[in-house]
Amino acid sequence: MRLLITAGPTREPLDPVRFISNRSSGKMGYAVAAAAARRGHRVVLVSGPVAIKPPAGVIFRKVETAAQMLSAVKAGLEKCDALVMAAAVADWRPATCARRKIKKNKMPAALPLKKNPDILMAVAPQKGKKIFVGFAAETDDSSAEPRRKLRQKKLDLIVANNVKRPGSGFETDTNRVTFYFADGKRKKLPRRPKKDIADRIVAWVEKERQMA
Ligand code: CTP
Repeated sequence: MRLLITAGPTREPLDPVRFISNRSSGKMGYAVAAAAARRGHRVVLVSGPVAIKPPAGVIFRKVETAAQMLSAVKAGLEKCDALVMAAAVADWRPATCARRKIKKNKMPAALPLKKNPDILMAVAPQKGKKIFVGFAAETDDSSAEPRRKLRQKKLDLIVANNVKRPGSGFETDTNRVTFYFADGKRKKLPRRPKKDIADRIVAWVEKERQMA
């Protein structure tokens, strides 16, 4: 299969030295890319800025902002069989980006923000027979939000995790996730290394593709 995988945070600049971003380390998305490459698939990894090295054998596209990530996803979409959106796309960006450093004594009283595009929503019309997998970063265990995202973003599978639980979420090497499938079923997994969860995700995509 040909997999398009996104990972890491995006950075939204305020001026040449400052940005807003989030705590994504990229570990989960990189684990999915590594698992897919290990299992013999062609992988394009679109990544925001992270501190880890791209896995061996993947085609790597580095991006910074949500707008750049959207362009890279659009560019790779047609040639993929499955899209796995593990990136933590910044939902907002500073309304303007100054060309020069904003000086300390020019601190704005408030920081006006603009909404970023939702990448999954933007590419949903091009889904066709492709398999779309998303992630849901939540701060509680309720299933309402993952289910809403699964439906609204036209996903086949959403992998939800409560980022506040120990051994789960950002920067950790393990995760505790629940899979929500488009047919309404769900599967709660115990705490596992991100590598194992990544293998499960790729194995599920392989099975889904065979059945299509
Ligand atoms: N996502 C995206 N574009 C965005 C934000 C999120 O494509 N601008 C994708 C993520 O990569 C993930 C899924 O949508 O696969 C859910 O992301 P999440 O941050 O959990 O949800 P949001 O849609 O941002 O909703 P909320 O902030 O209300 O939780």
